[in-house]
Amino acid sequence: MVYHETVLLHESVDLLGVVPGSMYVDATFGGGGHSRLILEKMGEKGRLFAFDQDEDAKRNTEQQEFSANPGFTFVPSNFRHLKRQLRAEGVRPGTVQGILADLGVSSYQLDTAERGFSYRFEAALDMRMNRQDGETAADLLNSRSAEELQRIFSELGEVRNAKTLAHAVVREREKLPFRSTGDLLELCSKHYMGDRMRYLSQVFQALRMEVNDELGALEDFLKDSLEMLAPGGRLAVITFHSLEDRMVKNFMKTGNIQGEMDQDFYGNIRRPWTLVTKKPVEPSQTEVARNTRARSSKLRVAQKIES
Ligand SMILES: C[S@@+](CC[C@H](N)C(=O)[O-])C[C@H]1O[C@@H](n2cnc3c(N)ncnc32)[C@H](O)[C@@H]1O
Repeated sequence: MVYHETVLLHESVDLLGVVPGSMYVDATFGGGGHSRLILEKMGEKGRLFAFDQDEDAKRNTEQQEFSANPGFTFVPSNFRHLKRQLRAEGVRPGTVQGILADLGVSSYQLDTAERGFSYRFEAALDMRMNRQDGETAADLLNSRSAEELQRIFSELGEVRNAKTLAHAVVREREKLPFRSTGDLLELCSKHYMGDRMRYLSQVFQALRMEVNDELGALEDFLKDSLEMLAPGGRLAVITFHSLEDRMVKNFMKTGNIQGEMDQDFYGNIRRPWTLVTKKPVEPSQTEVARNTRARSSKLRVAQKIES
């Protein structure tokens, strides 16, 4: 099985503006597609720190181009701890030349039945990217209030009948707790609206995002990125969800995810970034035809202002 088909590979690494001999971070190593191209461009004197919180991703670093490269370091951590982890590696804030994140899950995670990310396979309803830590999707369905479940389905999945589904979950778990993807599939099959596959994707995506606190991690990561980048350094983020894209867009415009302009005493607007991409870069038709998972991807790139 191919671990992951890299999305917007050349677009993102070109806009990251990799120069030989500098320091870079790939926050989402996965199958290592972006890392491989960064390594190629940064040359022998460069350094690349690659993060991934999934221990299965670490196996990919055993490939020759990673394991034999003295400039490559794998950091088995959530990227929300970017600053702390880099400092532990001896990297000072304000010294990294480029940071790239390609959010969400890899094809490997989606296509490996026992990870429980997909409604296509019968498996334990897990969905944790880091299996050493936190609640599984089943725990979440079995413990959260109806209001909380409604918020998850509605905000993270844009599920049209989020309230109905949330109450159905609560009724169902009183009879028997949720354990498997099949349990959730069965319930959704009774309540779906519109296209069944689309509905299932929305429900599963919402749960995955909540289980892994994907929005919270993104917020922490964006803040740390700004601190760790050198003046003139670049941040490139590929998103697959409208809420994530909005957070990245706001952060690159204003330095905070709410998108509130920061003004100094005299009313001058303070911006920490200049935009490298005024509009998000989207995949070409050829890329989408080759890899349907690229369909909803959006790339935004910004450069830290030189003070
Ligand atoms: C879309 S894949 C990245 C694919 C990679 N760019 C490539 O070309 O092969 C996302 C990867 O990021 C990891 N990931 C997602 N969120 C993370 C987080 N908060 N911290 C660390 N790793 C994360 C996932 O485990 C997954 O392996």
